[in-house]
Amino acid sequence: MAILTVLAKRSVSPDLEIAVSSRFWVVRVLVLTGAGVSAESGIPTFRGKDGYWRNLDPAKLATPEAFARDPQLVWDWYRERRQRIRNARPNAAHDAVARLAQRTDEFLLVTQNVDDLHARAGISAQRMVRIHGDIFVTRCSRCEFERHDYEHEHEHEDEHENEGVIPRCPECDAFMRPGVVWFGEQLSRNELERVEDFLDGGACDVVIVAGTTATFGYIIDWALRGSELIEVNPEETPLSRFATQQVREPAAIALPRIVDQLIASPSKL
Ligand code: APR
Repeated sequence: MAILTVLAKRSVSPDLEIAVSSRFWVVRVLVLTGAGVSAESGIPTFRGKDGYWRNLDPAKLATPEAFARDPQLVWDWYRERRQRIRNARPNAAHDAVARLAQRTDEFLLVTQNVDDLHARAGISAQRMVRIHGDIFVTRCSRCEFERHDYEHEHEHEDEHENEGVIPRCPECDAFMRPGVVWFGEQLSRNELERVEDFLDGGACDVVIVAGTTATFGYIIDWALRGSELIEVNPEETPLSRFATQQVREPAAIALPRIVDQLIASPSKL
Protein backbone atom coordinates (compact mmCIF):
# COMPACT_ATOMS: atom_id res chain seq x y z
CA MET A 1 0.00 0.00 0.00
CA ALA A 2 1.45 3.39 -0.95
CA ILE A 3 1.48 5.59 2.08
CA LEU A 4 2.42 9.23 1.79
CA THR A 5 1.98 12.32 3.86
CA VAL A 6 2.04 15.55 1.92
CA LEU A 7 3.34 18.68 3.54
CA ALA A 8 1.39 21.60 2.14
CA LYS A 9 3.67 24.44 1.18
CA ARG A 10 2.69 27.53 -0.78
CA SER A 11 5.39 27.89 -3.38
CA VAL A 12 5.97 28.48 -7.08
CA SER A 13 8.96 26.19 -7.05
CA PRO A 14 8.57 22.96 -9.03
CA ASP A 15 10.09 21.05 -6.15
CA LEU A 16 7.56 19.35 -3.97
CA GLU A 17 8.06 18.83 -0.31
CA ILE A 18 6.81 15.39 0.40
CA ALA A 19 7.41 13.23 3.41
CA VAL A 20 6.62 9.55 3.42
CA SER A 21 5.35 8.10 6.65
CA SER A 22 5.26 4.41 7.28
CA ARG A 23 1.61 4.11 8.31
CA PHE A 24 -1.72 5.79 8.88
CA TRP A 25 -2.02 7.81 5.65
CA VAL A 26 -3.67 6.38 2.62
CA VAL A 27 -3.03 8.59 -0.34
CA ARG A 28 -6.03 9.73 -2.31
CA VAL A 29 -4.99 11.38 -5.52
CA LEU A 30 -7.19 13.17 -8.03
CA VAL A 31 -5.73 14.23 -11.38
CA LEU A 32 -7.65 16.61 -13.66
CA THR A 33 -6.36 17.01 -17.19
CA GLY A 34 -7.18 19.12 -20.24
CA ALA A 35 -6.04 19.68 -23.79
CA GLY A 36 -2.56 20.94 -22.76
CA VAL A 37 -1.58 17.40 -21.72
CA SER A 38 -2.07 16.16 -25.28
CA ALA A 39 -0.50 19.26 -26.89
CA GLU A 40 2.92 17.64 -26.95
CA SER A 41 1.45 14.64 -28.79
CA GLY A 42 0.49 17.03 -31.58
CA ILE A 43 -3.20 17.45 -30.71
CA PRO A 44 -4.11 21.14 -30.90
CA THR A 45 -5.65 22.68 -27.78
CA PHE A 46 -9.07 24.29 -28.06
CA ARG A 47 -8.20 27.82 -27.20
CA GLY A 48 -4.69 27.97 -28.65
CA LYS A 49 -3.98 29.55 -32.05
CA ASP A 50 -3.49 26.14 -33.67
CA GLY A 51 -6.95 25.04 -32.47
CA TYR A 52 -8.61 26.83 -35.38
CA TRP A 53 -9.70 24.58 -38.27
CA ARG A 54 -10.30 26.06 -41.73
CA ASN A 55 -10.36 29.40 -39.89
CA LEU A 56 -13.24 28.21 -37.72
CA ASP A 57 -13.28 28.52 -33.95
CA PRO A 58 -13.64 25.09 -32.27
CA ALA A 59 -15.78 26.70 -29.56
CA LYS A 60 -18.32 27.44 -32.30
CA LEU A 61 -18.03 24.05 -34.03
CA ALA A 62 -18.40 21.94 -30.88
CA THR A 63 -22.01 22.95 -30.29
CA PRO A 64 -25.44 21.41 -30.92
CA GLU A 65 -26.30 24.54 -32.92
CA ALA A 66 -23.38 24.04 -35.32
CA PHE A 67 -24.41 20.40 -35.83
CA ALA A 68 -28.03 21.38 -36.49
CA ARG A 69 -26.89 24.03 -38.97
CA ASP A 70 -24.20 22.07 -40.81
CA PRO A 71 -23.72 18.45 -39.66
CA GLN A 72 -21.44 17.72 -42.60
CA LEU A 73 -18.98 20.44 -41.61
CA VAL A 74 -18.95 19.28 -38.00
CA TRP A 75 -18.36 15.66 -39.07
CA ASP A 76 -15.50 16.71 -41.38
CA TRP A 77 -13.85 18.44 -38.45
CA TYR A 78 -14.29 15.46 -36.13
CA ARG A 79 -13.01 13.01 -38.78
CA GLU A 80 -9.88 15.05 -39.17
CA ARG A 81 -9.40 15.17 -35.40
CA ARG A 82 -9.95 11.39 -35.12
CA GLN A 83 -7.33 10.82 -37.77
CA ARG A 84 -4.85 13.08 -36.01
CA ILE A 85 -5.46 11.27 -32.72
CA ARG A 86 -5.02 7.85 -34.34
CA ASN A 87 -1.66 9.00 -35.63
CA ALA A 88 -0.58 10.47 -32.29
CA ARG A 89 1.20 8.71 -29.43
CA PRO A 90 0.86 9.24 -25.68
CA ASN A 91 3.62 11.53 -24.39
CA ALA A 92 5.60 11.59 -21.16
CA ALA A 93 2.74 13.38 -19.37
CA HIS A 94 0.25 10.58 -20.14
CA ASP A 95 2.85 7.99 -19.12
CA ALA A 96 3.51 9.79 -15.83
CA VAL A 97 -0.21 9.91 -14.93
CA ALA A 98 -0.52 6.18 -15.72
CA ARG A 99 2.46 5.45 -13.49
CA LEU A 100 0.94 7.45 -10.65
CA ALA A 101 -2.35 5.55 -11.04
CA GLN A 102 -0.52 2.24 -10.69
CA ARG A 103 1.27 3.34 -7.53
CA THR A 104 -1.62 4.99 -5.70
CA ASP A 105 -4.29 3.12 -3.76
CA GLU A 106 -7.10 5.57 -4.23
CA PHE A 107 -6.76 7.31 -7.53
CA LEU A 108 -9.02 8.95 -10.08
CA LEU A 109 -8.17 10.71 -13.32
CA VAL A 110 -10.84 13.04 -14.65
CA THR A 111 -9.95 14.11 -18.14
CA GLN A 112 -11.71 16.65 -20.31
CA ASN A 113 -9.86 15.23 -23.31
CA VAL A 114 -11.89 13.22 -25.77
CA ASP A 115 -8.79 11.61 -27.26
CA ASP A 116 -7.72 8.14 -26.11
CA LEU A 117 -4.14 8.96 -25.18
CA HIS A 118 -4.55 8.46 -21.42
CA ALA A 119 -6.11 5.05 -22.09
CA ARG A 120 -3.33 4.11 -24.50
CA ALA A 121 -0.78 5.08 -21.86
CA GLY A 122 -2.30 2.36 -19.68
CA ILE A 123 -4.90 3.88 -17.35
CA SER A 124 -7.78 1.49 -16.80
CA ALA A 125 -11.36 2.59 -17.40
CA GLN A 126 -12.07 2.11 -13.65
CA ARG A 127 -9.54 4.76 -12.73
CA MET A 128 -10.53 7.31 -15.35
CA VAL A 129 -13.60 9.44 -16.00
CA ARG A 130 -13.83 10.94 -19.48
CA ILE A 131 -16.07 13.75 -18.48
CA HIS A 132 -16.46 15.21 -22.00
CA GLY A 133 -16.89 11.84 -23.72
CA ASP A 134 -14.94 9.85 -26.28
CA ILE A 135 -14.26 11.07 -29.81
CA PHE A 136 -14.29 7.49 -31.14
CA VAL A 137 -17.88 6.95 -30.03
CA THR A 138 -20.54 7.63 -32.65
CA ARG A 139 -24.03 7.92 -31.25
CA CYS A 140 -27.50 8.62 -32.56
CA SER A 141 -28.73 12.17 -32.19
CA ARG A 142 -32.25 10.84 -31.57
CA CYS A 143 -32.31 7.35 -30.01
CA GLU A 144 -29.98 5.48 -27.62
CA PHE A 145 -27.97 3.68 -30.30
CA GLU A 146 -24.20 4.11 -30.16
CA ARG A 147 -21.12 2.34 -31.42
CA HIS A 148 -17.38 2.57 -30.83
CA ASP A 149 -15.24 3.44 -33.83
CA TYR A 150 -11.90 2.63 -32.24
CA GLU A 151 -8.66 3.39 -33.93
CA HIS A 152 -7.74 -0.21 -34.76
CA GLU A 153 -11.09 -1.14 -36.27
CA HIS A 154 -10.73 1.72 -38.69
CA GLU A 155 -7.00 1.66 -39.30
CA HIS A 156 -7.51 1.54 -43.03
CA GLU A 157 -10.39 3.95 -43.11
CA ASP A 158 -9.62 6.90 -45.29
CA GLU A 159 -11.21 9.89 -43.63
CA HIS A 160 -11.16 11.80 -46.91
CA GLU A 161 -13.23 9.09 -48.59
CA ASN A 162 -15.93 9.74 -46.00
CA GLU A 163 -15.73 13.49 -46.27
CA GLY A 164 -19.19 14.88 -46.77
CA VAL A 165 -20.89 11.72 -45.47
CA ILE A 166 -23.11 12.05 -42.42
CA PRO A 167 -23.56 8.66 -40.76
CA ARG A 168 -27.14 7.53 -40.18
CA CYS A 169 -28.46 5.50 -37.26
CA PRO A 170 -29.08 1.85 -38.24
CA GLU A 171 -32.00 1.78 -35.76
CA CYS A 172 -33.94 4.96 -36.51
CA ASP A 173 -32.18 6.56 -39.51
CA ALA A 174 -31.52 9.86 -37.72
CA PHE A 175 -28.11 11.52 -38.09
CA MET A 176 -25.37 10.06 -35.90
CA ARG A 177 -23.10 12.45 -34.01
CA PRO A 178 -19.78 12.20 -32.19
CA GLY A 179 -20.12 10.91 -28.61
CA VAL A 180 -18.68 14.00 -26.99
CA VAL A 181 -20.19 16.65 -24.74
CA TRP A 182 -20.63 19.89 -26.63
CA PHE A 183 -20.76 23.39 -25.21
CA GLY A 184 -24.06 23.96 -23.45
CA GLU A 185 -24.81 20.23 -23.08
CA GLN A 186 -25.28 18.28 -19.83
CA LEU A 187 -22.50 16.09 -18.52
CA SER A 188 -23.25 12.39 -18.30
CA ARG A 189 -25.00 11.65 -15.00
CA ASN A 190 -23.10 8.36 -14.64
CA GLU A 191 -19.71 9.95 -15.07
CA LEU A 192 -20.61 12.78 -12.69
CA GLU A 193 -21.66 10.24 -10.08
CA ARG A 194 -18.36 8.42 -10.44
CA VAL A 195 -16.46 11.65 -9.67
CA GLU A 196 -18.73 12.51 -6.74
CA ASP A 197 -18.46 8.97 -5.33
CA PHE A 198 -14.68 9.23 -5.38
CA LEU A 199 -14.72 12.64 -3.73
CA ASP A 200 -17.26 11.50 -1.12
CA GLY A 201 -14.79 8.78 -0.14
CA GLY A 202 -12.65 11.37 1.63
CA ALA A 203 -10.60 14.49 1.01
CA CYS A 204 -7.80 14.10 -1.49
CA ASP A 205 -4.24 14.40 -0.25
CA VAL A 206 -3.15 15.73 -3.61
CA VAL A 207 -5.01 17.15 -6.58
CA ILE A 208 -2.97 17.68 -9.75
CA VAL A 209 -4.51 19.87 -12.45
CA ALA A 210 -2.61 19.80 -15.73
CA GLY A 211 -3.09 21.43 -19.11
CA THR A 212 -6.47 23.03 -18.66
CA THR A 213 -7.72 26.61 -18.65
CA ALA A 214 -10.22 25.45 -16.00
CA THR A 215 -13.06 27.47 -17.47
CA PHE A 216 -15.77 25.17 -16.15
CA GLY A 217 -17.08 25.59 -12.60
CA TYR A 218 -17.10 21.85 -11.94
CA ILE A 219 -13.38 21.58 -12.73
CA ILE A 220 -12.62 24.34 -10.25
CA ASP A 221 -14.88 22.76 -7.61
CA TRP A 222 -13.19 19.37 -7.96
CA ALA A 223 -9.70 20.91 -7.96
CA LEU A 224 -10.41 22.45 -4.57
CA ARG A 225 -11.28 19.13 -2.93
CA GLY A 226 -7.74 18.33 -1.74
CA SER A 227 -5.25 19.57 0.82
CA GLU A 228 -2.56 20.12 -1.83
CA LEU A 229 -3.30 21.56 -5.29
CA ILE A 230 -0.56 21.31 -7.88
CA GLU A 231 -1.21 23.18 -11.11
CA VAL A 232 0.86 22.33 -14.18
CA ASN A 233 0.37 24.90 -16.90
CA PRO A 234 2.76 27.29 -18.66
CA GLU A 235 0.05 29.96 -18.34
CA GLU A 236 -1.86 31.38 -15.43
CA THR A 237 -5.48 30.22 -15.08
CA PRO A 238 -8.44 30.99 -12.80
CA LEU A 239 -7.19 28.14 -10.58
CA SER A 240 -3.68 29.47 -10.13
CA ARG A 241 -4.45 31.58 -7.09
CA PHE A 242 -5.71 28.51 -5.22
CA ALA A 243 -2.70 26.34 -6.09
CA THR A 244 -0.23 25.36 -3.38
CA GLN A 245 2.26 24.61 -6.16
CA GLN A 246 2.27 26.40 -9.50
CA VAL A 247 4.43 24.61 -12.03
CA ARG A 248 4.83 26.82 -15.09
CA GLU A 249 6.20 24.20 -17.45
CA PRO A 250 4.87 21.93 -20.19
CA ALA A 251 3.14 18.86 -18.78
CA ALA A 252 5.49 16.38 -20.49
CA ILE A 253 8.42 17.96 -18.64
CA ALA A 254 6.82 18.63 -15.26
CA LEU A 255 4.55 15.63 -14.68
CA PRO A 256 7.24 12.91 -14.86
CA ARG A 257 9.26 14.79 -12.25
CA ILE A 258 6.25 15.44 -9.99
CA VAL A 259 5.18 11.80 -10.20
CA ASP A 260 8.71 10.60 -9.45
CA GLN A 261 8.70 12.76 -6.35
CA LEU A 262 5.28 11.60 -5.25
CA ILE A 263 6.12 7.92 -5.52
CA ALA A 264 9.76 8.15 -4.48
CA SER A 265 10.86 5.68 -1.88
CA PRO A 266 11.42 7.02 1.64
CA SER A 267 15.15 6.53 1.30
CA LYS A 268 15.32 9.00 -1.58
CA LEU A 269 13.65 11.78 0.38
N1 APR B 1 1.53 21.53 -20.96
C1 APR B 1 0.61 21.96 -20.06
N2 APR B 1 -0.34 22.85 -20.34
C2 APR B 1 -0.38 23.34 -21.59
C3 APR B 1 0.54 22.95 -22.60
C4 APR B 1 1.53 22.00 -22.23
N3 APR B 1 2.42 21.57 -23.11
N4 APR B 1 0.24 23.61 -23.74
C5 APR B 1 -0.82 24.37 -23.47
N5 APR B 1 -1.20 24.21 -22.18
C6 APR B 1 -2.32 24.81 -21.46
C7 APR B 1 -2.74 26.17 -21.96
O1 APR B 1 -2.03 27.19 -21.28
C8 APR B 1 -4.22 26.18 -21.62
O2 APR B 1 -4.43 26.68 -20.30
O3 APR B 1 -3.41 23.97 -21.70
C9 APR B 1 -4.61 24.69 -21.63
C10 APR B 1 -5.48 24.29 -22.81
O4 APR B 1 -6.69 24.96 -22.69
P1 APR B 1 -7.95 24.68 -23.60
O5 APR B 1 -7.56 24.65 -25.03
O6 APR B 1 -8.95 25.67 -23.17
O7 APR B 1 -8.38 23.21 -23.22
P2 APR B 1 -9.21 22.69 -21.99
O8 APR B 1 -8.98 23.50 -20.76
O9 APR B 1 -8.98 21.22 -21.92
O10 APR B 1 -10.69 22.91 -22.49
C11 APR B 1 -11.71 22.39 -21.74
O11 APR B 1 -13.41 23.03 -23.27
O12 APR B 1 -13.37 23.31 -25.49
C12 APR B 1 -13.93 22.59 -24.48
O13 APR B 1 -14.75 20.40 -24.28
C13 APR B 1 -13.61 21.14 -24.64
O14 APR B 1 -12.57 19.61 -23.14
C14 APR B 1 -12.50 20.92 -23.65
C15 APR B 1 -12.83 21.94 -22.60
